[in-house]
Amino acid sequence: MNLKIGELKLKNPLMLAPMVDVTDLPFRLLCRRAGAAMCYTEMVYVDALLHENASTLRMVKTCAADKPLGLQITGNSIEEFEEFVSRRKLWEKFELIDLNCGCPSTRIVGTKAGSYLLKEPEKIAMIIRILKQTGKPVTAKIRLGYLKNNVLEIARMIEGAGADALTVHARLSNEPYAKKADWDWIGRVKREVGIPVIGNGDVFSGKDAEEILNICDGVMVARGAIGDPLVFRRILNYLTDGKKYVTNHPEPRGASVRENWGMDWKENLKQFEEYLKLEKKYFGSNVDLGKIKYVGGKFLRGFTGASKKRDGFMKLKNWGEIEKFVEDLRKSLG
Ligand SMILES: Cc1cc2nc3c(=O)[nH]c(=O)nc-3n(C[C@H](O)[C@H](O)[C@H](O)COP(=O)(O)O)c2cc1C
Repeated sequence: MNLKIGELKLKNPLMLAPMVDVTDLPFRLLCRRAGAAMCYTEMVYVDALLHENASTLRMVKTCAADKPLGLQITGNSIEEFEEFVSRRKLWEKFELIDLNCGCPSTRIVGTKAGSYLLKEPEKIAMIIRILKQTGKPVTAKIRLGYLKNNVLEIARMIEGAGADALTVHARLSNEPYAKKADWDWIGRVKREVGIPVIGNGDVFSGKDAEEILNICDGVMVARGAIGDPLVFRRILNYLTDGKKYVTNHPEPRGASVRENWGMDWKENLKQFEEYLKLEKKYFGSNVDLGKIKYVGGKFLRGFTGASKKRDGFMKLKNWGEIEKFVEDLRKSLG
């Protein structure tokens, strides 16, 4: 059940996906405690890293317990990637560097970065060759294509450029979450290349993870972990304890059932409290209230009156109110 990416050995094949505004240091620590073997920073534009401004540095903040950690970057300028590699302190504390070739947001695609790169497999290969000069394992996270599926060509180029692994989010760049990820293509990529392939898209349960691991080497979870870091523990239990593991739902694949697959809401509220504690510890007065409300609110589910509590949480205006909210919640739920 372990996975090796270059020289980096992972204790299991479960990874927390990079997610903007979600996978900061506190959130990653919770997912690691629950069993995620590998985590990534949220995506950072290479140009922003070069400027080393305070908000970007906050996005890549890490600590000793937060290992192994992949830095996820994107961009389109060869010169910027070259400069990034020449400035060791920007990358030396990460165990791996991942190139984002999947982000569909118009802001990123407008600068020819993210999923726009899928249109330029040669460019992806050039960037990977540059990143490999760091001596770190280098990976790429891709989709099936920009508007048309050219994933096999892209995968071959990425392997040829010397990448150590490849993550495939099995959708085109313009396909919404409502369309099921096409896992067949993950298997096809796996048969096309010799490097480890990590499957991503619509993994919410142990059963989903098991299916993905039957066709490739690793599995990456994104939405399934938001507000539910213990999903990693449940997946690991399922993978190791097999069919004995009881779930709340007979067919746990898909967005409609992801809310509560095997979740224990009381335990989850403890995760919520821990999340807030860690945010305070690592970000103190710089804490980003908007982010805390978006991510924190997702923990508040699975119990009677949860949606009302969530509404209340969204209206809080400062850290003092958040602490009072947590205290009241604890009292009201016993
Ligand atoms: C809030 C949010 C932020 C995301 N940010 C990133 C990102 O920074 N980098 C990236 O490669 N993918 C990002 N993604 C995409 C996920 O990593 C993942 O590929 C996608 O959600 C499919 O996995 P899932 O079905 O497990 O959610 C983001 C997704 C969400 C929901």
